[in-house]
Amino acid sequence: MDTSAIIVESVTHRFGKLVAVDNLSFGVDQGEIFGLLGPNGAGKTTAINLITGLLRRQHGAIKVMGFDPLTEPRQVRQLIGYVPQETNLYADLNAVDNLLHHAALYCADLKAAPGRIEALLRMMSLGERRSDPVRTYSGGMKRRLALARALLHEPQVIFFDEPTLGVDVQGRHMLWEHIKAQQAQGKTFIVSTNDMAEADALCERLVIIDHGRAIALDAPEQLKTALGRDIIELRTTPAVEDPAALFAGLGIGAITRTTADQLRIEVQDAEAIVGEFISRVTAIGHRPQHRLESVRIARPSLDDVFLHHTGRGLRE
Ligand SMILES: Nc1ncnc2c1ncn2[C@@H]1O[C@H](COP(=O)(O)OP(=O)(O)O)[C@@H](O)[C@H]1O
Ligand SMILES: [Mg+2]
Repeated sequence: MDTSAIIVESVTHRFGKLVAVDNLSFGVDQGEIFGLLGPNGAGKTTAINLITGLLRRQHGAIKVMGFDPLTEPRQVRQLIGYVPQETNLYADLNAVDNLLHHAALYCADLKAAPGRIEALLRMMSLGERRSDPVRTYSGGMKRRLALARALLHEPQVIFFDEPTLGVDVQGRHMLWEHIKAQQAQGKTFIVSTNDMAEADALCERLVIIDHGRAIALDAPEQLKTALGRDIIELRTTPAVEDPAALFAGLGIGAITRTTADQLRIEVQDAEAIVGEFISRVTAIGHRPQHRLESVRIARPSLDDVFLHHTGRGLRE
């Protein structure tokens, strides 16, 4: 039996001359939370719009629960829920009316809608505020209501474009818990984000996208351990002019200048080597004399994975 929720094969999409999605391939299993991680403009929303059938595919193949969004759009629409990047709720209507309005437009079984709406609002911890106009909601509440709306017709696969954009820290954690609770009910999620902490906390597997291209695909832990190295960050006054020369012979990996006075150095085993780094930087008689402002040892983050593959930070 095919347990794929989604198959994307060699999909390319151009807007005029701009290649927004570039030969992208990945598969999502049923019941998985799968992430599209990449900076703004990477092509995440375009990819989602192609999979959901909102955008007409130009090249490649896509299947959603076995159906092609291009030739079988009705079946696909039935099976999927979509929470777009911009939460397009009616601000002057309350939660119940927003959902009733949506149900009237899109749900076959209108009689069941009020009961389902009540259950969903409780599920999304919105029960108490259900009669308040949406304009009084926090960012997190609006996103949860948008998720409830996407779940109204009981889809199996949910696309959530930037779930916690504009949501405060508390709201973020709550939203992640709600997404995971839906997953526990058997739903599949495709989540886009430019936030590595979110990808780390939420996604079981993810594809890192840059300029429309997949640059890595795996579980977050795997992606990080695959780097096989630690990070040492050094900040000095003045900046180290020629780190390759200063640290010669220490067997280090890539060196990146993250700010004017800060270096990020990939090493095999940070604990074993950090002392030698400090002695070299602060060596008496070295001209110019460096003062060590800070030193930090870190295990790789998803940001480091991105940096490793692209030479840039996720947020640059
Ligand atoms: N309708 C469009 N027309 C022209 N260019 C677009 C359109 N939609 C997106 N783009 C461009 O395609 C690239 C990918 O955009 P998008 O998929 O929105 O990225 P992301 O969601 O990762 O931020 C960007 O360079 C964006 O400006
Ligand atoms: Mg987007």
